[in-house]
Amino acid sequence: MQATILAGLDRKEAEIYRRLDPARLPQHIAIIMDGNGRWAKRRHLPRVAGHRAGVASVRSTVETAARVKIPALTLYAFSEENWKKRPRSEVDFLMGLLCRYLKQEVPTLNKNNIRLEYIGRQHELPATVQAKMEWARQATAHNTGMVLTLALNYSARTELVDAFRAIAQAAARNGGLEHMQLDEDEVSRHLYTRHLPDPDLVIRTSGEMRLSNFLLWQLAYAEIHIIPTLWPEFRGVHLLEAIAEYQKRERRYGGLVDAPDHHLPKAARS
Ligand code: FPP
Repeated sequence: MQATILAGLDRKEAEIYRRLDPARLPQHIAIIMDGNGRWAKRRHLPRVAGHRAGVASVRSTVETAARVKIPALTLYAFSEENWKKRPRSEVDFLMGLLCRYLKQEVPTLNKNNIRLEYIGRQHELPATVQAKMEWARQATAHNTGMVLTLALNYSARTELVDAFRAIAQAAARNGGLEHMQLDEDEVSRHLYTRHLPDPDLVIRTSGEMRLSNFLLWQLAYAEIHIIPTLWPEFRGVHLLEAIAEYQKRERRYGGLVDAPDHHLPKAARS
């Protein structure tokens, strides 16, 4: 198994992968892809050139994640706010780029056993884009390997509003909230990400220190990895470096790990 994985990686990737503990891989990695515009600006190119270059980064990241057997990868491709803040021509370009990506990439996704899913308000996207998305989803639905989720027209706050609305409707059908078991699991079951575990690791490129309305509920205990690399320069090797860094961290989930007893209040000592 290890040998097969190593054979699929390039030299730099293999070097990092050899140092990883395959038993402690993050089960879900989420990425905020940022810096396309700045990458283009530095080269005196139009912003859209950065998005076009960003597709190669998506390809490399998805392939490496699948090769090293990451069960789930979620990419923040297009926020709900992106619609309002970008010129129409850039939005149209991004939509076209997405459609071309889906058309070109489905055979590779199938070859790599990757299943495609989406989160976000899909119904607000142009009908032609929705149709292409649905086609790609169905064309990869039989795959049993990594789940690749694209966040498109996504906003975490909107997701929570949609979840609360669905919970309220369920409560009304069931004779009121007091007849429902409303706990964290029930909220999670109403999120767009109900098909996924919460991310263990979130990566943001281009050095910005923000979550930008991405998976606010689901990232509660995620390890955060921020790198200065702009998205069009991000490759599989950066993903593996992020995983190596993640494996050095001590995850506490709000508790104390290996904390000596004398640091606890007397009543809590074992
Ligand atoms: C952020 O860069 C990036 C985006 C809004 C779009 C992400 C899209 C891609 C990577 C390509 C297409 C994606 C798929 C899945 C095919 P920015 O423009 O906000 O960069 P800036 O902060 O430097 O201006």
